[in-house]
Amino acid sequence: MSLPKKVKLVEVGPRDGLQNEAKPVPTEVKIELIHRLQDAGLPVIQATSFVSPKWVPQMADNAQVMAGIKRKPGVQYPVLVPNRKGLDAAMAAGCTEAVIFGAATEAFSKKNTNCTIAEGIARFSEVAAVALANGLKVRGDMSVCLGCPYEGEVDPQAVVRLAREFEQLGCYEFTIADTIGTATPGKTRAAIEAVAKYISVDRLAIHVHDTYGQAIGNIYAALECGISTFDSSVAGLGGCPYAKGATGNVATEDVLYLLDGLGIETGVDMQKLIAAGDYICGVLGRPTFSRAAKAIAAKMAA
Ligand code: HMG
Ligand code: MG
Repeated sequence: MSLPKKVKLVEVGPRDGLQNEAKPVPTEVKIELIHRLQDAGLPVIQATSFVSPKWVPQMADNAQVMAGIKRKPGVQYPVLVPNRKGLDAAMAAGCTEAVIFGAATEAFSKKNTNCTIAEGIARFSEVAAVALANGLKVRGDMSVCLGCPYEGEVDPQAVVRLAREFEQLGCYEFTIADTIGTATPGKTRAAIEAVAKYISVDRLAIHVHDTYGQAIGNIYAALECGISTFDSSVAGLGGCPYAKGATGNVATEDVLYLLDGLGIETGVDMQKLIAAGDYICGVLGRPTFSRAAKAIAAKMAA
């Protein structure tokens, strides 16, 4: 089975990683983190969210973050956009990629965005149309595709339905997310294969959380299916505030260790990435969740 030769890593630390932090993270720290991540060679950095600050206070400084970053040529800075208000603010801040986000289950849709799946799609239909008309790219993130904290097992056909709706809206990329990190490789493969009947694998991305320690196994299964875009978070930060029990995203350092070991090109420098993780963990006052970063640091210290 041949694996992709090149992988696109989508760094979600500044957004998914920090949205869940209980204490405010200063805007300058978010900007410095983004600078360090782009210096490490990450080609896509989810910079912030233009969601309601009443729902996610940690992302309330979205416009300041966008204004503060010195954008590196060739790097993309997508932002989450839940509705027209968010899109207008994102466009005013000079964003060039909007990430719309829906859920494969009704219960999660309600908890995360206060609407049904169908109402969310109606909202996103306007968002996507306006974004595309203004030259933005639109990505579709699909939550709880592999397990829901409220509904449990998720039928791959629910993921297929959402992906096909998002395709109608003009998304260029579709993210199958394991929001609460309960998936195992067989489930991951089943969801990918179900969606790939309608949308080619080169347009699919995987976004995994590492709650049950299955993330790297799930990513390997996705590589075997031909997936070549993966979301991950530096130092394994993160979690969705509306997904009970969800821990951090898979650590970018751990994904990079896997890909480097397989000889798959990413353009990302491990030492600089670990330094970016050390920086944010230092500010947050906690150790990294990345196994690879810990092991490499221990080896260097020995
Ligand atoms: P709502 O309360 O139903 O909406 O929230 P509303 O229209 O009644 O607005 C409530 C208040 O928020 C109003 O203010 C609005 O103006 C304001 P008030 O009039 O009371 O002063 N508001 C906004 N302010 C700024 N920017 C906006 C905006 N929208 C409304 N865009 C809504 C509905 C969708 C807005 C809300 O539920 C929301 O923001 N949800 C986002 C939740 C979120 O960010 N979750 C985490 C990201 S998703 C995730 O992490 C999963 C992912 O990683 C993949 C995975 O792992 O699954 C992507
Ligand atoms: Mg997530």
